[in-house]
Formats: sequence, structure tokens, C-alpha cells
Amino acid sequence: HWHFDTRIIGREVFVYDELPSTNDRAADADLPVGTVVVARHQTRGRGQYNRVWQSRTGVSLLASIRLLPPPELNRPVTLTAWAAVAVGEATRELTGRQAKIKWPNDLLIRGKKICGILIEQKTATIVGIGLNLNQTAEEFAAANLPDATSLGIVGDSDFDLRRACEVVVGKLDAEYTRLLAGERVPLEADWKWRIGLLGQHVVADLADGEAVAGRLIEMGFDGIELDLGDGAVRVLTPEFVRHL
Ligand code: BTN
Repeated sequence: HWHFDTRIIGREVFVYDELPSTNDRAADADLPVGTVVVARHQTRGRGQYNRVWQSRTGVSLLASIRLLPPPELNRPVTLTAWAAVAVGEATRELTGRQAKIKWPNDLLIRGKKICGILIEQKTATIVGIGLNLNQTAEEFAAANLPDATSLGIVGDSDFDLRRACEVVVGKLDAEYTRLLAGERVPLEADWKWRIGLLGQHVVADLADGEAVAGRLIEMGFDGIELDLGDGAVRVLTPEFVRHL
């Protein structure tokens, strides 16, 4: 049981050796808002699209945060952007390297995945974060995960779970406090910058199976603008874009 000196997130951190999934534990209605649940190992860790999320004991930060955001913030795009930007700031503090955001909710360093985010609406909004800490390149290669990396690989040292958790939670708390104060613009700007596709020709795969190709001319939480050529602009709702 840890306590961090934060405003909302992580004043209480419950740490378990093993849980089925930290996201499920954080959904327990008796936990106060802002509580963080951490496990050294998960037996039924979940990823996006119901994929399994597996990790050897003690090598990852597996954490879930219980939140009740006000309605205007309680949207997948806003919460994903918030978590991705904050964890990216944490990787920079820990290793000197900021992470890039791969749409919608992966973090990459040097083109390889270091963190996944899973937001679920249950008894509250549950924000799950899986951040690779101490896996080695050999271990990822043996597990047939050549496109994964860890803080240990990037920073060339070992990372302590508690220290990594404290830095990540500190950044999440600071950014969340800004969002609650109505400062969404700096977060949108960081998010856009971290995605790094502005001005480029992209293909947006939409939730209904349609694919829209064009030059990405603007992005925000309320809309993504694609220049289709001949002066035509198509505005897409971020929640509807599955892949960019
Ligand atoms: C993804 O990349 O598909 C998202 C992965 C999210 C994994 C984390 S680990 C902590 C939390 N508990 C879970 O069961 N999943 C998330």
C-alpha cells in the first residue's frame, strides 16, 4: 500500500502480487476516486479488442486508475490523449526519451511499443496502463515480440516498480488537474505533436469499415480534418477513427 503526494490520482495505491486484472479490481465500487491499483502479475490481463495482455512477473508497471471525470472530459479520445501524453512525459523523465503516440492508444519509442492503454467504462471510468519496464530485447525476441521495447532497453538500466509508478502517477495527476481546470488546449497540442502525422498523407480506417484517404490538416478532440483534394475537406469524429 503506497501513498503519493498528489492531488487526486495516487493518494492511495493498492499493490498486489497477483490479480486477474487490475482494471477489474479498480472497478470495485468501494474504492475512492483517484485510487490506483497495481499488480506485479496479472493472470487475465486484457488489451484492446479483447486481446490478452501477458507479462512476466515484476517486469511491467500494470496499473489501473479509478476516475469519475466530469461529462465533458469523459470521452475515450480525451482520456486516451491525457493518459498517453502523461505517460510520455514520464518516459522522458525516466529515460530522457519522449514517446510517440500510435493512434489511438499505444506509446512507441524508436518505433517499438512500450505502453498500451485500456480505458473501460464500468462502475466508474477505469484507465488501465501497461508500461514495459525491465524486459530485455532477448526476451521480446524469444516471445516473438520484435516490435516491443521497455524502459530498461531504452534507458539501459533497471527500473524500480515503485519509482516508475510514482513518476507515471505524478504526471497523470498533474495533467488531470489541468484538464479539470478547463485547460484542454495544451493537452490537445501535445497530443497532436506526439502523434506526428499533421501535414502527412494518411488513411483513416473508420469503425464502419470505410477507409478515407487524404492529407491530415487539423486534429483536435472534436474533429480530425482530412483534405481530400479539389478543396474538399472531410471532418471525422475521433471516436469513429479506428486506425490512422
Ligand atoms: C493494449 O495495448 O491493447 C492495452 C493494454 C492495456 C494493459 C493494461 S495492464 C493494466 C490494465 N489491466 C488490464 O487487464 N489491462 C490494462
